[in-house]
Amino acid sequence: MGPFKAYLIDQDEGQTRADFVSMDPSQLDTGELTIKVAYSSVNFKDALAASGAGRIIRRFPCVGGVDLSGTVAASSDPRFQAGDAVIATSFDIGVAHHGGYAEYARIPAEWVIPLPAGLSLYEAMAIGTAGFTAALAVVRMEENGLEPSKGPLIVTGASGGVGSLAIDMLARRGYQVSALTGKESETDYLLGLGAAQVLLRSSLDLSRIRPLDKTLWAGAVDNLGGDVLAWIASTMKQGGTIASIGLAASASLNTTVMPFILRGACLLGIDSGYIGEPYRSGIWQRLASDLRPQHLQTMTRCIAFDDLPGVFDDYLQGRAHGRVVVAIAAA
Ligand SMILES: NC(=O)c1ccc[n+]([C@@H]2O[C@H](COP(=O)([O-])OP(=O)(O)OC[C@H]3O[C@@H](n4cnc5c(N)ncnc54)[C@H](OP(=O)(O)O)[C@@H]3O)[C@@H](O)[C@H]2O)c1
Repeated sequence: MGPFKAYLIDQDEGQTRADFVSMDPSQLDTGELTIKVAYSSVNFKDALAASGAGRIIRRFPCVGGVDLSGTVAASSDPRFQAGDAVIATSFDIGVAHHGGYAEYARIPAEWVIPLPAGLSLYEAMAIGTAGFTAALAVVRMEENGLEPSKGPLIVTGASGGVGSLAIDMLARRGYQVSALTGKESETDYLLGLGAAQVLLRSSLDLSRIRPLDKTLWAGAVDNLGGDVLAWIASTMKQGGTIASIGLAASASLNTTVMPFILRGACLLGIDSGYIGEPYRSGIWQRLASDLRPQHLQTMTRCIAFDDLPGVFDDYLQGRAHGRVVVAIAAA
């Protein structure tokens, strides 16, 4: 194994910069598995990390890419053999441990799972952290008693990666899903994923959010935070469940306890980062079976590794559409 191509994020006098470099295998981090990366993907977090817009990277320099799929090149862990197809997402990958934007990665075996039967290496990255998180939200909400008969759901940040995948999975399970988006141009796309209706963010009056408003939602998957999440809390039905996933709009939350103590609403925190086994593999098994997204092809585009730097701005400007897979060294 000789030098290989990597997209390295570094800091220079407090400024984040990222570029393609040639890396030597000896520069890889420690881990039981050396993986020949086939595909990676782009998540909101990857754009924040590469641009320095968020304090995402915890160790400089760091190869970006929180997701990767590929083939085991070498393993010192008896659970994996050379040639095995694998997925690695989350944990410190791409933030404090060299990640998926490189032709090779060396990853602790605890962070790696075998590719579930029924998914290709490409499909695994079309799903990626975004789909794993959406599935985790669906599973956690249903563990909390949510079912289609309880009433309609809302998904925010609908046209992004987590939003698109959440709509797909929830609609497939029989939920009536309202997609909240900032982009009117995405209406047909969102209806095509299975949304029953599309709501525009501009149609909401978020200037005066009441502690309790007219009840609308039995469930919510929120990718935005801030005022939208506060409005959702105030409009939850009795016993409704909110899965709080993201902060694409704001990390703040200014609400009251009223929805929680007078309507029994639940706010579930969803953190995909450090979910260990066997729960992690269980979610991926479901992503390959009953939660398998039905519209992966429609929502995903594949870019060449060289084109990676050009996509981050869309994420930072709220223009992300569905999922982007990065072909690193696909066969
Ligand atoms: N908790 C976890 O484990 C976890 C895992 C993955 C992601 N996340 C978080 O979940 C969120 C979504 O991730 P993603 O990868 O799906 O991101 P994404 O693909 O960039 O999608 C985000 C979407 O949110 C909306 N949006 C973006 N900026 C906005 C703004 N300033 N104000 C209002 N809406 C805005 C846009 O959709 P519309 O125009 O359709 O509204 C955008 O397409 C991010 O905050 C991410 O950090 C958390």
